[in-house]
Amino acid sequence: MFYPEELVEEIRMKNDIVDVISGYVKLQKKGSNHWGCCPFHNEKTPSFSVSQQKQMYHCFGCGVSGNVYTFVMKYENFTFPEAVKALADRAGVQLPEAEESAEMKKKAGKRARLLEVNKEAAKFFYYQLRSPHGETGQQYLKKRQLSDETMHRFGLGYAGKNGALLVEYLRKKGFEDGLIKEAGLANFTERSGFLSQFWNRVMFPIQDINHRVIGFGGRVMGDGEPKYLNSPETPVFDKRRNLYGLNFARTARSGNIILCEGYMDVIALHQAGFTQAVASLGTAFTPEQAKLLHRYTDNVLLAYDSDGAGVKAALRGVGILRDEGLTGKVINMKPYKDPDEFIKNLGCEAFQERINQAENSFFFEIRILEGNYDLNDPEDKTKFHREIAKKLCEFKEDVERENYLQAVADKYHIGFENLRKLVMSYASQTGLVRPVERPRSGVQQKNHPEENAKKSQRLLITWISDNPAIYQKIKDYISAADFTEDLYKKVAGRLFEDLEKGNFNPAGIISMFEDEEEQREAASLFHTNLPELTTVQEREKAFHDILLAVKKNSYEYYTARMGTDVNSTEQVIKGKKALEKLAKTHISLD
Ligand code: CTP
Ligand code: MN
Repeated sequence: MFYPEELVEEIRMKNDIVDVISGYVKLQKKGSNHWGCCPFHNEKTPSFSVSQQKQMYHCFGCGVSGNVYTFVMKYENFTFPEAVKALADRAGVQLPEAEESAEMKKKAGKRARLLEVNKEAAKFFYYQLRSPHGETGQQYLKKRQLSDETMHRFGLGYAGKNGALLVEYLRKKGFEDGLIKEAGLANFTERSGFLSQFWNRVMFPIQDINHRVIGFGGRVMGDGEPKYLNSPETPVFDKRRNLYGLNFARTARSGNIILCEGYMDVIALHQAGFTQAVASLGTAFTPEQAKLLHRYTDNVLLAYDSDGAGVKAALRGVGILRDEGLTGKVINMKPYKDPDEFIKNLGCEAFQERINQAENSFFFEIRILEGNYDLNDPEDKTKFHREIAKKLCEFKEDVERENYLQAVADKYHIGFENLRKLVMSYASQTGLVRPVERPRSGVQQKNHPEENAKKSQRLLITWISDNPAIYQKIKDYISAADFTEDLYKKVAGRLFEDLEKGNFNPAGIISMFEDEEEQREAASLFHTNLPELTTVQEREKAFHDILLAVKKNSYEYYTARMGTDVNSTEQVIKGKKALEKLAKTHISLD
């Protein structure tokens, strides 16, 4: 680990999980926990709980859990060291400078240099456009009705006919060829030497949310191919995680963000006053970009091209938005091809009207689906209705599904009850919509024996962490060695060690693991669904069953290994005695 464990723990303890999560999610105290809507999946009724005592969170809907570090990592897309740094800053803890490894320094240095060379290249293009050599570029952008102010705001530039000029300029500024190449600004060729591939194009610098130039898009002036040439991916240019225009859109405060396909669309919309417009970077919209948008808004309006490719991209887009828990709507651009043309022809008021009329993403999907069927043909019509039912199954929440069911039945004149039956039959066939199941006793499920064993071990850890006082009553019967799964053994070992010392600190146990997957698994051990039982007798019986199941599995596990490993013989002898004793012992939960 990159920071000392004590420091990581200190920072964690100075960042109360309820305080931190409250900064992201609206929480309400109910019972001993705080509840809110899970930020990691789409829901409207709170199933996300935060425990001050455990300093952990858990979502009963999607199953995520963890401590304050894993929360910040997941929410902000941070690595572990980044999360430590952010929370240290928040708590006013000074991180030791020297802890930064040579490797990290080199990486940070490289990133800084790449940003510098990009910035210098952007300046070069910017001045070219405004010099006598930039006349062609000026004319082109003027023809596309961009004002000087807009060109300035977006830092638009021009790359002239000679691809050697940029290289010459950057070399003079002190940048090595290797760096220029790594930034994707020039390439070596046998024939012509070291040249920029950006020539005879108007240049769009691409900025991250902090206005730093991370790459470029260049457009030919006229009909050449390719129409747009984009910088390749570099250590500072991650096309999946950035959006064109977001540096401005993030502060637009318009209650929504408009997602377009092209750079020119974004610029035209901003010029018309819609400063909430963004576009992906010459690649398809990604889940990472949806997550990024979610930091700033809950409502995304798609302003994709009206042609077949645009509709296809929009269909993909609404799916990604929905998975991220964003509300997606689709803006109708017809009869124009894209926002840029629409604004030019009909102006901003007409566009605002289209925004107000944007179509709910579900109805958009159904309407596109409808185009595949001939509704005059009974067989086709039935198929269409089946598809609608299938789509309705995707709504996990009953109320939401019912509302859509009603609305779509009305709109397409389908009998409500018939459609409802169709949905139910699909739901049970595919298991898409499952009633919430809560096993009465966690142990006796007809799973694989190994799964059952793991399950009882998880139940035991959760039970103990919910009632730490119980440890003293059972410590003579159980030890970390009884946990036969490696990661479980580590967690139990540390938990028991802590409890022995009178500490209780499950959130700290998670940070023992460096791997994110392991952190997730460790966290889940503290959040099994315990059987919901009312009487003390029932609870005592259930707890006894769990304890016995863990012990029995341990006994069987070591018996199977007897002879191959010395420890196991000892474990078996001890285990048998403990098991017999435990079977006869009553453990009171009072
Ligand atoms: N694009 C690209 N490479 C291409 C064509 C397109 O990277 N050869 C990307 C660009 O990011 C572009 C977006 O896809 O902005 C949308 O493409 P398109 O609709 O063809 O371009 P417009 O943005 O409409 O550009 P223009 O109005 O200048 O034709
Ligand atoms: Mn266009």
